Amino acid sequence: MNYNIVVLDGDGIGPEICAGAIKVLNAVGKKFGHDFNFEHRLIGGCAIDKCGVPLPEETVKACLASDSVLLGAVGGYKWDNLPVDVRPEKGLLGIRKAMGLYSNIRPAKLWSSLANASPLKYELVKDGVEIIIVRELTGGIYFGERGKGFDTMSGEYAWDTEKYSVAEIERITRIACELAMKRSKKIISVDKANVLESSRLWRKTVHAYAQKHYPEITVEDMLVDNTAMQIVKNPAQFDVVVTSNIFGDILSDEAAQVTGSIGMLASSSLGDGTRGLYEPIHGSAPDIAGKDIANPVATILAAAMMLRDSFGLTKECAAIESAVQKVLEEGWRTADIMQDGAKKVKGSEMAALIAERI
Ligand code: IPM
Ligand code: MN
Repeated sequence: MNYNIVVLDGDGIGPEICAGAIKVLNAVGKKFGHDFNFEHRLIGGCAIDKCGVPLPEETVKACLASDSVLLGAVGGYKWDNLPVDVRPEKGLLGIRKAMGLYSNIRPAKLWSSLANASPLKYELVKDGVEIIIVRELTGGIYFGERGKGFDTMSGEYAWDTEKYSVAEIERITRIACELAMKRSKKIISVDKANVLESSRLWRKTVHAYAQKHYPEITVEDMLVDNTAMQIVKNPAQFDVVVTSNIFGDILSDEAAQVTGSIGMLASSSLGDGTRGLYEPIHGSAPDIAGKDIANPVATILAAAMMLRDSFGLTKECAAIESAVQKVLEEGWRTADIMQDGAKKVKGSEMAALIAERI
């Protein structure tokens, strides 16, 4: 089969880690007889530099015409002081919206060979941690009405709005339930229903929808502040977590840190079709860009998720995951996950080691 993949390398370490993933995908293509074609397009800071905007029309067109999209990372100090509409982040938010990617799945998994990288006590993580955050990605306060102004009463002011419709809550609940059906049959829905109206609708809708369409699923509610605490107190209690755009943004960083190796975590963003956008959870790390020390594994695992979730290539996905596992077990480490007695390699070497083991 032939697959057309748009690669949005982005900024900072983006191009290096995407190169690593492409190397591994090519090894998979060779072994399993697939043709992966890669088309590179601009997004983020590099797009601002070359085209004056973070998301050129041409990039959107290419993504919408592709089979799927692989993204490195966007942003960097260089663009930090630009007006909001021409900042790199705007490119990322724009492509999510343009592709209708309302479902962002961020699995935070503790790799057994890296268990001692977790900042938590060993007893808390020894039985494994796998928190799958299902984050609503195209609604809520990220895309709600906002404004700023000035009046004599309050002086300068600004506001953003958190707004969710039943339909938006239902479709993300369905994604979480589908995932949970293949796992613990339990979802934890996170909100702030003790304060926010939008959260009260969230809670009511999640329960009604799950009960009607997935009667086997147990839904537990958890307030967001308590969730933040529970993730560090007892991370093993979580399996599938479903939540709003902003809560998912915050909790996924926390869950990722619990695994101790943000350089290892991938995420998928999907809408109603099979075309998705796959990216590492970490950012563009401008401080280490161009030094070939960035860990390419998160992006390689994002490519694996693409094979499984967009192309239905489960064997191929498993081949990448076990190649990563093997390389870790053999003791190869990039700087971010380096341990005593391990063998330190550069980012490109890590990718090559994984590709060789496909
Ligand atoms: C993320 C990032 C983005 C977000 C930023 C860069 C706009 O933090 O993907 O989690 O807030 O969604
Ligand atoms: Mn974030």
